[in-house]
Amino acid sequence: MIIVFGSINIDLVTRVDALPKPGETVAAPGYAVVPGGKGANQALAARRAGAGVVLAGAVGRDGFADLALDMLAADGVDLTRIVRADTPTGAAFITVDAEGQNQIVVGSGANAFARAASLDGLATKPGDILLLQWEVPEAEICAAARWAKALGLRVMLNRAPAGPVTPELMAMTDIVVVNEHEVMALAEGHGVDGADPEAVASGLSARYGNAVFVTLGAEGAMGWADGIRHAAPALPVEVIDTTAAGDTFCGAFAAALDRRRGYETAIEFASAAGSLACTIFGAQPSIPTLATIEPAAAILADGRNPDHRRTPP
Ligand code: RIB
Repeated sequence: MIIVFGSINIDLVTRVDALPKPGETVAAPGYAVVPGGKGANQALAARRAGAGVVLAGAVGRDGFADLALDMLAADGVDLTRIVRADTPTGAAFITVDAEGQNQIVVGSGANAFARAASLDGLATKPGDILLLQWEVPEAEICAAARWAKALGLRVMLNRAPAGPVTPELMAMTDIVVVNEHEVMALAEGHGVDGADPEAVASGLSARYGNAVFVTLGAEGAMGWADGIRHAAPALPVEVIDTTAAGDTFCGAFAAALDRRRGYETAIEFASAAGSLACTIFGAQPSIPTLATIEPAAAILADGRNPDHRRTPP
């Protein structure tokens, strides 16, 4: 089982040719209202990748709350640990350019009221995974990690948006997943040298004895665990919108590890899922299912090991 403690948002998304510069107003033909939030996206990605998933967090008592939870409910994510706060549901204001790159501002809203205590009494088993990101209060993230460690769960940390992580939390974390910018920000204060994401990931993994994986956009992903390097390319896809590609990687990676796949297989599975998420507009609508991820991951596996290439029937 995967337990996600994190944000739940409504995304208000506009498409433009080029992202606005400071002080500039850009007209867009319209906008879409889409369910999102890093926590919710990762929960849905893990669920669609085949895992049993519980999502804990907070929404408001407004109309956005139901919209934000609809897709999660339809896909069978357990929403019983979500609380209602007397403040608007979180919202993200997203602009996507012609290349599919985005700019995001998040209004926390109800996410500020997410509490680790909402996990109390949840039936878990050792080895289950707690998946954390950074759009809910940091003190609650740390409390959730302590709760998980006390129960023998694995803690997976996606330090997004970018910023530091305390040595205490790093020591409680079994698996870190970040992008190439986030890993550099995370490394500050940990006494790890390295001029590039590869060296920093290796240094952090060695220092804390955990697994550190870095997503690299079109270059795929790489990471270090137990002194061994793992890597997978991205699928060559037509990029429509990169929103939630990182979340999809995290959720799919967690789902593969929950099925006790090794890192070599899990990183290919997650990279395939993240690539597929770039081909459809919007956060949660773009998250692929197991049925589409598996054949895509097989393409990456074929490229890794020529001996495993499938022959035509
Ligand atoms: O990672 C993408 C997500 O970031 C969006 O869905 C938005 O809600 C923000 O949380």
